Amino acid sequence: MHQDKRIHHVGLQRKLCSAEEAAQWIHHGDTVGTSGFTGSGYPKAVPMALADRIQQAHDDGKPFQIQLLTGASTGPELDGALAKVNGVSYRAPFNTDPNMRQRINAGDTNYLDMHLSHVAPLFRSGALGDMDVAIIEVSAIREDGTLIASTAVGNNQLWLDSAKKVILEVNDWQCRELESMHDIWEVSSTFPHQIIPIVNVSDRIGKHYMSVDLDKVVAVVKTHASDRNAPFSPSDDNARAIAGHLLEFFDYEIKKGKMPSQLLPLQSGIGNVANAVMEALNEGHFENLCAYTEVIQDGMLTMLEDGKMSSASATAFSLSPEKAKYFNENIGIFLNKIVLRSQEISNHPEVIRRIGCIAMNGAIEADIFGNVNSTHIMGTRMMNGIGGSGDFARNAYLSIFMTPSLAKGGNISSIVPMISRVDHISQDVQVIVTEQGLADLRGLSPRSRAQVIIENCAHPTYRPLLKEYYRLGLENVSMQTPHLLKEALSWHDQFVATGSMLSELK
Ligand code: COA
Repeated sequence: MHQDKRIHHVGLQRKLCSAEEAAQWIHHGDTVGTSGFTGSGYPKAVPMALADRIQQAHDDGKPFQIQLLTGASTGPELDGALAKVNGVSYRAPFNTDPNMRQRINAGDTNYLDMHLSHVAPLFRSGALGDMDVAIIEVSAIREDGTLIASTAVGNNQLWLDSAKKVILEVNDWQCRELESMHDIWEVSSTFPHQIIPIVNVSDRIGKHYMSVDLDKVVAVVKTHASDRNAPFSPSDDNARAIAGHLLEFFDYEIKKGKMPSQLLPLQSGIGNVANAVMEALNEGHFENLCAYTEVIQDGMLTMLEDGKMSSASATAFSLSPEKAKYFNENIGIFLNKIVLRSQEISNHPEVIRRIGCIAMNGAIEADIFGNVNSTHIMGTRMMNGIGGSGDFARNAYLSIFMTPSLAKGGNISSIVPMISRVDHISQDVQVIVTEQGLADLRGLSPRSRAQVIIENCAHPTYRPLLKEYYRLGLENVSMQTPHLLKEALSWHDQFVATGSMLSELK
């Protein structure tokens, strides 16, 4: 048989088929686990063929929906295609696709948003049911049938171990050399779990490859398709100001002797602001940085290339199309600098606490007492999900949340009396930064927090209104946390009714 460049196992070469044929193995009601994390490493052909099958079934008046578990967000060929045909009855654990978001918010798809480090233990507990089919993108199949993951490790090994049937997509757009970046180490399914022996960011504790019971592999599909990460917006003034406040704060901490000059391992969340902070750190004077994080975005890749950052551990990439192309063509630069682990390990509380991360995550809104909403617009509409922000925020040495002080052209204040949804309780939020300034909340009581957050973080347009809310709270309610219950969510109510938090409040 002809020797395929990416499929070196003869038995699996015989399983080669079209995406349409592979999709025939999936049936209505199946639980399907896929690779894919933050727009990278997800299967790109079989899900589209499955979407066609689902559409056909619906046209014939037959029900066809699956339950979909992933690593995190995927791309338009997976979440997007399946959402368009209303093919997903249940989805976990993180999504950024606009079509899937619409299905979730319309109630067509039941969505379980959860900490990304919790997916594997919850699945092992049986709470997420049995897995019927795993569809995993790999960059190669080795001679002995072991598998090389692509740009995301996520929950791949768990899905391979648990699924009754396995479909492999071998994507030769992905770099073959990715092999040496992976570190596959799985937590045991019994208690007590082993100690995870990671002490330094670049420690390798597992294997370069994933394994699968070859008898379970029902189909192998070849693809040549790029990951579909969205481009980042260029840093704007707000993002640069947020980054500036953070860098000043780090300097101050170093001067006090509270942090080493190369800082502590960085965790950088998703989104434009997080990426801009990485860009600013690259231009700043810090040297020899490292990252223990969930995803590697453009800014971090540049830092690794420029030598500002020596090593990074993550579970996946989340690159713009240009940077992904660059990475593929220049992977040699990064080979010894990046370790990709399963998401249970990249986000594991034990390791995060041991190595002392600086967690920097985006927020939708924060309240004057320091609680943070990362997931819901106006308390009801799901944006993306909590992702790994909770895994890191609770366990980091320093937990930072960042947001511009205004949204929607100034009609929304991101600093509000009470947040409309609580993702991060005040106990997990140590620092809040907006373009206005930074509030270091460590050691502060709720009343002190309110004063610092309003003064340092709120936009001047809303600052007097927040001060008045707090003053009235003290005057009329007092107590440990002086909220005016009737007014606490009135700003949101006002926005929903009129399109601005300001109109009636002015
Ligand atoms: N009220 C209402 N809408 C708001 C808002 C607020 N206070 N703040 C922001 N928004 C809207 C923006 O207008 C924008 O809407 P649009 O898509 O209609 O334009 C959207 O929310 C995203 O805002 P943006 O300023 O572009 O934020 P971002 O790219 O920096 O992302 C989060 C911010 C919170 C959405 C993002 O960080 C996230 O999903 N976090 C949760 C997951 C996470 O932290 N993962 C990392 C763990 S490793």
